[in-house]
Amino acid sequence: MPRIGDMAPEFTAQTTQGTINFPADFKGKWVILFSHPADFTPVCTSEFMTFGSMQQEFDALNCQLIGLSIDGLPSHIAWLRTIKDRINWKGMKDVDVQFPLIDDITMNVAKNYGMIQPGESETKAVRAVFFIDPKGVIRTIIYYPLALGRNFDEIKRVLIGLQTIDNYGVALPADWRPGDEVIVPAPSTMKAVDKRVTDKDMHCYDWFFCTKKISKEEVESKLGK
Ligand code: BEZ
Repeated sequence: MPRIGDMAPEFTAQTTQGTINFPADFKGKWVILFSHPADFTPVCTSEFMTFGSMQQEFDALNCQLIGLSIDGLPSHIAWLRTIKDRINWKGMKDVDVQFPLIDDITMNVAKNYGMIQPGESETKAVRAVFFIDPKGVIRTIIYYPLALGRNFDEIKRVLIGLQTIDNYGVALPADWRPGDEVIVPAPSTMKAVDKRVTDKDMHCYDWFFCTKKISKEEVESKLGK
């Protein structure tokens, strides 16, 4: 089962957008590789409508979305067409899912990525979300059970957070959003508590916990770069 910090396992797969060689085809981009239990099911449909509607927001973050389930291409194509032609949910309609959806009828990819969790289901992938950076390293993994739809604002927040961590060499506190204070890493923290070297923009709660401001505009100007 791949873990945070591992290179994303390689595979070649058929998708609704043609064959992909993963992760080589996406080098230089962030990737969110996510699984869903089955086509033509309600929670998955609500998720695809939400993710499909957010496509441009993820494009702007230089992030490729890639879906996967243990269904074949004919099922994927028919389901995505049904979503586009027939489903009107929460003000979303005509949703044209343009990101690739992997045919994993053999379960090859799902098994390699630990998406089959037999206590939950032996035949369906759980709702896994892998965040993979432009060098092909797995940076975050989130799992949800079959019956619980994902929070896509949180998925976008995680992606923005990972990019900000890389852009500024900082850590991010609970519930961080762009514009909130970021956590200053330890060596600068040590300087700040040494009264001779005080950064006026830094706020220290104790010797191990200092934050500083980075404006929303500054954070956003570097996202997707
Ligand atoms: C759903 O997407 O609605 C679903 C799929 C598998 C099990 C439970 C719900």
